[in-house]
Amino acid sequence: MKIVSKFFCKIKNTGVLNTFCCLYKLLFLKIVSVLFRLERWHSIAPYECRAYKKLVVGIVNELQPHTVVEIGCGLGEIISRVNAAGKHGFDREENVIKVAKMLCSIENNFHVGSFDEVKSLKEKIIDVLIMVNWLHDLDGSHIRGEIEEILKVKEIKYIIVDEVHTFREGYRYHHDFEQCFHGIAEKIKDVDDGYDNYRKISLFKIS
Ligand SMILES: C[S@@+](CC[C@H](N)C(=O)[O-])C[C@H]1O[C@@H](n2cnc3c(N)ncnc32)[C@H](O)[C@@H]1O
Repeated sequence: MKIVSKFFCKIKNTGVLNTFCCLYKLLFLKIVSVLFRLERWHSIAPYECRAYKKLVVGIVNELQPHTVVEIGCGLGEIISRVNAAGKHGFDREENVIKVAKMLCSIENNFHVGSFDEVKSLKEKIIDVLIMVNWLHDLDGSHIRGEIEEILKVKEIKYIIVDEVHTFREGYRYHHDFEQCFHGIAEKIKDVDDGYDNYRKISLFKIS
């Protein structure tokens, strides 16, 4: 019964076409995940089913960036849809990067890695750094420390992160990034993920 009500709620919020695209993509990614032994998460949250991913793409594209980097890019669903001449996706999971390279077009550069590997990029300026839907596993001071280290060797203009609402259980950390980035970045805007009701997406400008 809960599934049926969720289904109709989805149709109401996102329309019939998007709901069927979401179902199709769920099935497709389920097969991919089984074949490549990916973590369950990659098969349950395709772009077409999750509002926050579209929000991130929209915010990035409004900034008209030249170079965009995403850490924790998963299958590349966000970075592959961003308009930028230079795009790099990093993920710590080798298998995930292998599949991202197969699914996304070749202009995306996918790399196994995380904060440290971003420092080795040849680009000196990163217009937008995206880190969404995984920072909730890391302590705030750790995240800040990693950003400070990158800033020693790169110029970052904007950072996009997500804050999971405190009433959502099952997350290790519920960050307040305004506090976490105090003195290094200033919040420009917050957008709620609306009907998904999980998180808000925040845009920070490096000061
Ligand atoms: C829930 S998925 C989200 C993927 C993508 N950000 C999205 O929203 O579509 C989280 C991804 O972050 C990656 N990840 C987690 N911790 C990481 C870390 N410390 N460095 C790089 N990637 C990490 C995981 O391997 C996984 O692919």
